[in-house]
Formats: sequence, structure tokens, C-alpha cells
Amino acid sequence: MKKFTDPAKLQKWCRERRAAGAKIALVPTMGYLHEGHVSLIKEAVRRGADEIVVSVFVNPVQFGPNEDYDKYPRDEKADWKKCREAGATAVFFPTPANMYLDRHSVYVTEEDLSRGLCGARRPGHFRGVCTVVAKLFNLSHAHFAVFGHKDFQQAQIIKRMVRDLNFDLDIVVAPIVREETGLAKSSRNTYLSAAEKESALAISKSLYALKGGERAAAAKKKIASALEKAGLKTDYVEVVDVETLEDAKTVAPGTCVLVAAYCGKTRLIDNREF
Ligand code: PAF
Repeated sequence: MKKFTDPAKLQKWCRERRAAGAKIALVPTMGYLHEGHVSLIKEAVRRGADEIVVSVFVNPVQFGPNEDYDKYPRDEKADWKKCREAGATAVFFPTPANMYLDRHSVYVTEEDLSRGLCGARRPGHFRGVCTVVAKLFNLSHAHFAVFGHKDFQQAQIIKRMVRDLNFDLDIVVAPIVREETGLAKSSRNTYLSAAEKESALAISKSLYALKGGERAAAAKKKIASALEKAGLKTDYVEVVDVETLEDAKTVAPGTCVLVAAYCGKTRLIDNREF
């Protein structure tokens, strides 16, 4: 497995591998890899990629000033091992300084799908995500990139960016990986105490208690009260159309129910697509 830290060297290698006929997959991550990330790498293997480039980069541009950039968990050694075991062929560990050169001044903003949900709560977040992902697309020369369904809004925004800016690659969205308890895997779960992990189950339980067919308002109320009962603080509960991310009236096929909630100081997200 190859290791890159220099964006220019990664780009040169990917360009040469693509010219030689290799099918290239990109798996963008912020590291501290768990089974969710491993499933994205395995999806790239399953789809027959010859080169699977995993980027491990805690992107400062997508964090707000009061968010957890400094304390975001990092473990390069463990990430390296997990990438190798899952079938990656290259890992990219850039630094903020070599991704964002002095006087970096070009950013990508998406102005429709990013208005609500996490976009409304985390101003500038998707601008940071789109910018770094666009850079990774250009560096990796990938034929396809794999993202997780847990970040549903992010995946829809990336697809829109690919469409609107004519990036020449496919976006694959892989299912959420959950712990046996139902809790969606997340690098941020590491912040949770045992008791908080227990309370956090209210998120997946309330999402999976929905049967489909409920009025959105009733479903939202039901989830919010389950979260409150478990001691969580609801950031949002929304039922949206999967394509437009606009409010839906009913929980029905073609909609997604999304939740963001604070469990202690930790903000968790989860969703269920119908
Ligand atoms: O989903 C993530 O981990 C990040 O937002 C991503 C796509 C790697 C960009 O930094």
C-alpha cells in the first residue's frame, strides 16, 4: 500500500495509474476509521477498483470556530492498518498546510441543498466539504468515489456538485453501518461515555419505530419526544424529499427522516430513508 502526504505526488501517481488503464476509486475520510469507513473501502473493492485511494484528512475548513476540530480523534497508525486490511492500495495523509496553500482563496459553495438541516446549523460546513472533496476529486483522478449514507445531506450535495460542475466521476453511496445496538457508527462515538451511548440509542430506535405512512409533523413530534425522554437535546428532526431536501408532508417512499441531536456535548446525526 502506498503512502502519500504531498498532493502533487498523489496526483501524479493517480494520473499515471489512470493512463495505464487502472480503475481508480476514492474514499474520502477524516480518519479514526471504524467499520463504517471499512465498508466504504470494501464497496470500492466489490466494484472492481484496481486502485483504492483513501484520504485521511481532518479538514479544518469544514469546522466552525466553536466545533471540535482540535479534539477530533486522530490515529494514523490504526487508520493505516485498517486501510490495508480492507483492501486500499494508497492512503493520502495530507496536512492543512499542503492542502491549503498560503492565501488559498477559492472555495466551492452549493446554494440549494445545503440551506437546511446541517447546513443551517453549521454555517460554512458544506462550503468546506465541497471545497476539499473537489480538490480530492482533482487529485485522485478517480472513476468513482464512495460516501456513506449516514451523511445523507452531504452525499446529496456532493452529487449536485458533480452534476453542476461536470466532474467526471460517479458517486456511490453505501449504507449506514450500525453497532449491534443500532447506534450508527461514527468517529464521534468515541466522545460518548457508556451511559451516553445508551441514551444515544433513542435516535436509531425512534427512527426505526416509524412504520411509514405517518404525517411528517406527527413523526417529528414522536421522535423529538423520544429523544427528550432519553435526555438528548434535539438539534433537528426533519422529514424531507430525498432529491430536493425540501420538507415532505408524509413519511413515505422517496423521503428521508433525518435527526441531529446532542448527547451531552456530542452532536450525533442519523437518518432513515424510506
Ligand atoms: O464525511 C466526511 O468524513 C467528510 O465530510 C469528508 C467527505 C471526508 C470531507 O472532509
